Amino acid sequence: KFVPIILAGGKGERFWPLSRKHRPKQFLCLDGSGESLIQATANRLLPIVGGWDDIWVITSKLLETGVQEQLPSLPAANLLAEPEGRDTAAAVAWATLEVAKRYGEDVVVGFFPADAWIADAEAFAQTIESAVQLAEHTGAIVTLGITPTFPSIGYGYIQQGIASGKYNDRDTYRVDRFTEKPDLETAKSFIASGDYTWNSGIFIFTASTAIGELNIHAPELMQLLIEKGVSIYPTLPKISIDYALMEKTKLTHVIPADFGWDDLGDWNAIERLLKGDNINVELANHVCIDTTGAVLYASNPDEVVVTIGLEDVVVVRDGDVTLIVAKDRTQEIKQVVNKIKEDR
Ligand code: GDD
Ligand code: MG
Repeated sequence: KFVPIILAGGKGERFWPLSRKHRPKQFLCLDGSGESLIQATANRLLPIVGGWDDIWVITSKLLETGVQEQLPSLPAANLLAEPEGRDTAAAVAWATLEVAKRYGEDVVVGFFPADAWIADAEAFAQTIESAVQLAEHTGAIVTLGITPTFPSIGYGYIQQGIASGKYNDRDTYRVDRFTEKPDLETAKSFIASGDYTWNSGIFIFTASTAIGELNIHAPELMQLLIEKGVSIYPTLPKISIDYALMEKTKLTHVIPADFGWDDLGDWNAIERLLKGDNINVELANHVCIDTTGAVLYASNPDEVVVTIGLEDVVVVRDGDVTLIVAKDRTQEIKQVVNKIKEDR
C-alpha cells in the first residue's frame, strides 16, 4: 500500500509579499494554470492512488483552514495540523507515525513538497511507481534525482553510486553521498564532476524504514514524539529532514527523474517558468524603458509599474507593500520578512 503525504506547512517567505502569513506560497497560483501549487500537487497524486482516501497532508495549525478550503475533498482524518512548524524532520516523523498507526509499518509513505512545478504528470506517475516498488522490495529510502542546470545553493545534491536494480522499467542507483544546500564553490564542483543530481525533495520509504532510521539519526525527536505525543511539538528540534536524516543515512537510493521539474523557490523561478533569460516577465500592466531581465508583478491589474533604465530587478506590488530587489538577491527576502510588522 502507498500513501502520499503532502508537506504543506512552509511559509514560502521568498515569495513575499505575494506570499503572506495566511496565504503562503503553496496556496498561490504561480504559473497561470488556475490551480494553486498544493492543488496541482494533489491532482498529480490522485491518479497514482486512485482517489482521495489515501492522500494525506501535514501543515501548521495556522494554515489548517486554508488547506481545507484549497482541498475540499481531502478527508478530515488525513489532515495533520502541527501546533507550530518545526521544519520537515518533525513533520516527516509525526506524519509517518500517524500513517503507520492507521495502516501498519509495512505501508510505503511518500513525502511530496507542495512547491514543485512538474511538467509531465504521466512520467511523474511512472517514476513514483518505480520508487514505491524499490522501497517495498529493498527497504530503501528512495529519492528522485533532477539533472542540475546551474550551481544552485538552494537544493540538496545527490551523488549517484552503483546500479541497484530496475523497477517499473526504471534504473535505480545507490547514493554515495547526500549534501544539503552546499556553498557556491562546492555546488560548482558537484556540477563539474557530473555525478550529482539535485534532490527533488520527494522521499519514498516504508514506514518501518523511516521510523528505524529516524530512531538512529534523530533519536531525540523520535523519543519526544513517541513518548509525549503531539503536545510536545513546540519543543521539537527545528531541523529539516535533509540535514536530520538524508545527510546521515546509508540507505538512500536514487532514480534519475525526467519529468520536467522546477522548485518554485523564489521570483527567479517565475521567470524560468514563463520565459527565457533576459526578457522582461510582464505580470503587471507596466511601462518598461531600457529595462532588461526584469520580473514585474502587480496583484491589482489596474496598477501600472514603470521602470526606466533598470536591469535584472524584481518589482512586486501587492496591497500595502512594494518590493524592489536585485534578481540575484531574492534569497534574502526571507530575512526582511522576519523584520517587518507581523501581518505583512
Ligand atoms: N508540515 C510542514 N511543516 N511542512 C513544512 C514545514 C513544516 O514545518 N517546513 C517546510 N514545509 C514544507 C514546505 O511547504 C515545502 O512544501 C516542503 O516542506 C519543503 O520545504 P522547503 O522549505 O521548501 O525546502 P527547500 O526547498 O528549502 O529544500 C528542500 O526541497 C528542495 C527541492 O525543492 C530540500 O529537500 C532540498 O534538498 C531540495 O533540493
Ligand atoms: Mg522548496
